[in-house]
Formats: sequence, C-alpha cells, structure tokens
Amino acid sequence: MSENASTVRTLFWDDGALMLLDQRVLPHEFTYVRCSTVEEVIDAIRAMVVRGAPAIGIAAAYGAVLAVGAAFEQHADTWREAVGADLEALRASRPTAVNLGWAIDSMVGQFPAPGVDPRPQLLAYARLLEDADVAANVAMGERGAAYLAADTRVITHCNAGALATAGYGTALGVIRSAWRQDKLKVVFATETRPWLQGARLTAWELHEDGIPVTLIADSAAAELMRDGEIGWVITGADRIAANGDVANKIGTYSLAVCARAHGVRFMVAAPLSTVDRDTPDGGAIPIEQRDGAELLGYRNCRTAPPGVAAYNPVFDVTPAALIDVLVTEKGAVEKPDHVSIARLFGPCD
Ligand code: MRU
Repeated sequence: MSENASTVRTLFWDDGALMLLDQRVLPHEFTYVRCSTVEEVIDAIRAMVVRGAPAIGIAAAYGAVLAVGAAFEQHADTWREAVGADLEALRASRPTAVNLGWAIDSMVGQFPAPGVDPRPQLLAYARLLEDADVAANVAMGERGAAYLAADTRVITHCNAGALATAGYGTALGVIRSAWRQDKLKVVFATETRPWLQGARLTAWELHEDGIPVTLIADSAAAELMRDGEIGWVITGADRIAANGDVANKIGTYSLAVCARAHGVRFMVAAPLSTVDRDTPDGGAIPIEQRDGAELLGYRNCRTAPPGVAAYNPVFDVTPAALIDVLVTEKGAVEKPDHVSIARLFGPCD
C-alpha cells in the first residue's frame, strides 16, 4: 500500500487467502475475516464484511485469483471454462457497484494463454489493481481539495473512505487532502441509516486521523445547510452512468436536492472504474434492495412493531444536473454530462 494511504488496512492478501477487515463490527471490534475460497469472498461481500464500491472491486479481483486457483488445480487444461460460473456468482454478489464487474473483467483480460499456470500472473495483477486504486484516490484527493476554500465546512454521506477502497478514500480522500492543506474546518458525517456507515465507519476513520468530525442524523442535513455555513457536500459513488447520473448510498439524492436549494456545492469523487459507459442514464442502474430487517431494528434489537413491512433500497440516483463537480483520477469535470464523461476516457488532459 502507498505511504499516502491511511493506516487502516481494509483488505490484504496473506499466504493464499484474502483478509478482510470486518466492517460489520467496527468500531467496537477490530477483527479480520480470512477468505480462502471464492465462495467465502462472495459471502463476505453479500454480508458487507467488506463494502464500498472500490473495496468490493478489489476484493473481487482477489476472489477471482482464488476461483482461478481452485479451477486450475482441478482442471489444469480447462480451467478457463470451469471458472466461469464462480466469476458470474462473484459478479452478482452485489448489484449496484459497477467496480465489481469492472474488476472481474479486468482479471479475465489478464488470463494467460492455455498451458500456463495462471496463478502468479493473476495475483500480481490483483495487487496492481489494489495499488492503482490507492494512487487514484490520492490523485482525486488533490484534485478535489483544489476546489475548497480555506475553513470549509463539509457534509459527507455514508463511508467513502479508506474502508470503502484499497486506501485513502474517494470523498474522504478529498477531505484528507483538504485537511493536509489546512482548508478544512469540520466534517459533518451523516449517520447513514440503516447500516450506519457514517456513524460507525466515517466518524471512526476521521477521528482516528485527527480530522474534526461531527455526527449528524440524516434528517439534520437540510437544517444544517440552511444555518451551518456549509461549503460543500462531498460523496463517493457506486456507479456513474454515461450521462453523469450517480448512484450512491440512499439519501445522497436528498442531500443533492437540499444542497441545490441552499446554494451549497455538491461534489462526487470516484475513480473511472465506477463509470459505466454501458449504462446510458441513472434509470438503467440496478438498485440493490436489502432485507427489511436492516430497517426494522438494529442488530438484535427490533425497533418497529411486529408485522410492519419495510422498503429498503440501499442506493439512489442523483441526476447529473445536481452535481457541480465530478472528480476522477483522470480529471475533474464541472456539471458532468455525456460529452464531458466521454472525454475522461480519451487521452490525458
Ligand atoms: O452499501 P455500501 O456501504 O457498500 O455503500 C457504499 C457507498 O454508497 C459509498 O458511498 C460508495 O461505495 C463509494 S465508496 C468510495
């Protein structure tokens, strides 16, 4: 991991297995889950041991290493065909974050010629994707922080930090860089019901790094934007459509509407691996629905009365028109649309 990354290790490869920091129990327990098979990686992604679009992409890359390794041991000549079903199950483990499919396609693109042991090459490539993710985050951090004036007060949603990536973070990368440049006054972290990524993960990450963080209920954001001298809302993304519409944690859309209503600027920071040029607009992005039990109580404590139903989409789509700046490792675009998004995939600026 780059020396610029924050010290928390979200995931790492250890002697034939993928180690995942268990984000279900942070910040009260700091423990790793060891995944020695692709099935264990799939279960860990579904259960949100690891979460955040770039982090699940990198976990999937290592999952592909495990899947190919097992297929090669059983079918040395036909492992390419044998591994297909495992890779499709891995791809389907969470539907909204496109980084998952991107990482698997990137790994498949590295499959060596028949007759060659694929394991060393694929492990090296997964490591390269991990390092590239940290480098992209550091680059985005610098680009994004350049938009902030001195003493800026920021709202962020969910967790788009080191825990959601291979290190440093996307939205929290911008926040980390702004803090280092002495531009940041305070970060307001939304609680992020129902899974509490903001309260449990973002507040912990920022506090550990000594960055001033104040927790707010999700429903306090409008009030804070009206009265709190907020400069920017900064979030990550799970999938960005070709026209610039952004799928991110449920509640991002409300924040963007509120930001526009109160003259607060709205920034999305995400690597190009989060941009899905095959999805024309936000209406075509699959939105994950999770078990209503996540909403009806917390951990083992039921809060809603028995018999009550729950509607639990865990992502929403923010229209491109509400986004002031999209920051990627390749460049930042103001008021993103399909032309400026396509340009990001052209030669370097
Ligand atoms: O359900 P989660 O915790 O995986 O959702 C994560 C988010 O919505 C993040 O904001 C997004 O993945 C960007 S992470 C850099």
